[in-house]
Amino acid sequence: MSLKEVLEYRRSVRYFDETKELDTEKVKHCIELAMLAPNSSNMQLWEFYHITDAETLKKISHACMDQKSNRNT
Ligand SMILES: Cc1cc2nc3c(=O)[nH]c(=O)nc-3n(C[C@H](O)[C@H](O)[C@H](O)COP(=O)(O)O)c2cc1C
Repeated sequence: MSLKEVLEYRRSVRYFDETKELDTEKVKHCIELAMLAPNSSNMQLWEFYHITDAETLKKISHACMDQKSNRNT
């Protein structure tokens, strides 16, 4: 697949199969790749949290305006 095709066909994924656990190592690898993205003055002012506890996820979603995009609704 060419870069052009990757950019044209990339889509946000909003469906998650909650019966399968996310592989933490794969998540970590994706984050490492995302961190290659350019950012303002190369300040790298980011923090990532891979939260797996359902109750914590519910609480923290409030900080994201209670968006439901992390659920299968
Ligand atoms: C920096 C950034 C922040 C975003 N924040 C949100 C968000 O808070 N809520 C949300 O539902 N989508 C968010 N999105 C996803 C965009 O809304 C989504 O990419 C856009 O609707 C285009 O859809 P597509 O990715 O499927 O092409 C964000 C995307 C970026 C790049």
